[in-house]
Amino acid sequence: MQALDTLLSRVSVGALAEPAPSGEALDRILQAGLCAPDHGGLAPWRFMLIRGAARAAFADVIEAALRARDPDAPAPLIDKQRGKFLRAPLVIALGARIREGHKVPVAEQLLAVGAGAMNLLNAAHALGFGAIWVSGANAADPAVAAALGLAPPDRLLGFLLVGTPAGTVAAPGRPALTAHVTEWKGACPSEHAAA
Ligand SMILES: Cc1cc2nc3c(=O)[nH]c(=O)nc-3n(C[C@H](O)[C@H](O)[C@H](O)COP(=O)(O)O)c2cc1C
Repeated sequence: MQALDTLLSRVSVGALAEPAPSGEALDRILQAGLCAPDHGGLAPWRFMLIRGAARAAFADVIEAALRARDPDAPAPLIDKQRGKFLRAPLVIALGARIREGHKVPVAEQLLAVGAGAMNLLNAAHALGFGAIWVSGANAADPAVAAALGLAPPDRLLGFLLVGTPAGTVAAPGRPALTAHVTEWKGACPSEHAAA
């Protein structure tokens, strides 16, 4: 697949089956993640692989964190949260190693990890795998981050669920360029100037 075709055809895949990428394919995907732009060469990426039997242990972490956040969490919600991580053939937790007080702003350090995550998604797609980036309350929960070895100021930015597309993947509609791209010609765009 040509590089640009890969970028233009990537789509998030929530319905995943085995196999997950492994061995050389997984190494290449992870290497792509480390090819993201990185202001100051801080290398903030911390990609944590959760697979095989470790998924059950991580599901236990997710359940304990959910129960701590909401002691009345209903059983179906607990099952849903556990299942998300139990069913994914591979989970890549996205950690950001943050340097506070550095001349490179924290926002740029986070962007470098986001760019790395995007490279992971594109590389997985290029090799025929499917993936989706999810976050939610689990990603924001300090107990989940701590279980993954991340302590403040380091951050957990979410999880990539990775595997093989379980079925046909529908191509999503993408926004029109006109809604998101303007050409700046040296004066305020008229839509702003009118305000
Ligand atoms: C930082 C981040 C967090 C996200 N968290 C979730 C999530 O928790 N649940 C979800 O269904 N989609 C989440 N998404 C959106 C999906 O990853 C995906 O982008 C969306 O379903 C659109 O699909 P597409 O990537 O094919 O355009 C998140 C996206 C980003 C960038």
